[in-house]
Amino acid sequence: MIKLHNKTFVPYINSLEIKKAVKKVAQEISTDFQNRTDKQPPLFIAILNGSFMFTSDLMKELSFNLEISFVKFSSYEGTSSTGNINQLIGFNHDIKNRDIVIVEDIIDTGNTLEKVLPILNDLNVKSIKIATLLLKPTVFNKKYSINYVGLEIPNTFVVGYGLDYDELGRNLKEIYKLKDTVMLNIVLFGPPGAGKGTQAARLVDRYNLYHLSTGDVFRYNIKNETELGKLAKGYIDNGQLVPDEVTIKMLESEVEKHPEAEGFIFDGFPRTEVQADALESFLSKRNTSVKLMLALDVNEDELVNRLLLRGKDSGRADDANEEVIRNRIKVYNDQTAVVADYYNKQNKFIKIDGVGSIDDITQRLFDAIDTFKS
Ligand code: IMP
Ligand code: MG
Repeated sequence: MIKLHNKTFVPYINSLEIKKAVKKVAQEISTDFQNRTDKQPPLFIAILNGSFMFTSDLMKELSFNLEISFVKFSSYEGTSSTGNINQLIGFNHDIKNRDIVIVEDIIDTGNTLEKVLPILNDLNVKSIKIATLLLKPTVFNKKYSINYVGLEIPNTFVVGYGLDYDELGRNLKEIYKLKDTVMLNIVLFGPPGAGKGTQAARLVDRYNLYHLSTGDVFRYNIKNETELGKLAKGYIDNGQLVPDEVTIKMLESEVEKHPEAEGFIFDGFPRTEVQADALESFLSKRNTSVKLMLALDVNEDELVNRLLLRGKDSGRADDANEEVIRNRIKVYNDQTAVVADYYNKQNKFIKIDGVGSIDDITQRLFDAIDTFKS
């Protein structure tokens, strides 16, 4: 058992099995390439950082002429209106008409390679083959095919042999996987003024969760002009609701960015049955599901008082007017009803008394979660 940052990992694939997987890939590649008589040898392109160890061992098993180059793929959100800029760093080969073999350590969703492939295709290469040590077939959802696979693994997070958890673990000789924990995914509801933000932060700390607020995700994507952000902005600018499809894609991509999370708090989502179904379906791809819906319950008059007070302090316009406040609460109640009903049918809905001291309310949330967990 080893610890990297805040997570525990257990042995998963030992040196012998890794060796076998490397040999398997090497043999398949050799079958395809060793008797070729092309003028130019194939060019292997290893994607850094993760593939350095695999590439090194793989190369030692290949005995035909070949070239090898290491590149780093960087995807950053540009400040220009063109949005995402993807590029290969450290790449200065003329690869026109070359046979390319991409070497990857692990393919998960396949998103990374989906961005690399067009870059290579634009350079008019002759052929592209893809080799990876590990593949997660249940998560991979792309159309391109992967030619050489060392080992297929289920959807677990692994480290070692080049693979990292937040940059640690790359130097490990063998492959480890995240120690099994049942993911704790919570849908958190609370009317304006219920103290949802404060409570969410405490849940994050105690249970190692990742807080996903739809509002924050929208703002992030719009600010960084991602494809989804631009799409969403179009609707918002026209005063329309962002369609479920766009919202769902954004959240799904956030979940994908945190494979190490021990659970998520969904805040501001789902708001409809369609969204709740979509959430189930993308969590099930990750072998997990929503465990609980927690709704902070505060009576309307108390909320109005709290918000009017807050409005006096903060000067927030939407907190100043009683009628506006009551309408926000009504909108909230209407939305919760649908979602509460959805989770109630699955016995996952819990109402938490949201009146009292902040600590008391936190304790009620902890109790509800701990009872569920035990
Ligand atoms: P994809 O774009 O979803 O295929 O993910 C590719 C990248 O995500 C890999 O090159 C890794 O950097 C990272 N990744 C995906 N799964 C794992 C894992 O289980 N352990 C460590 N890194 C991973
Ligand atoms: Mg990585």
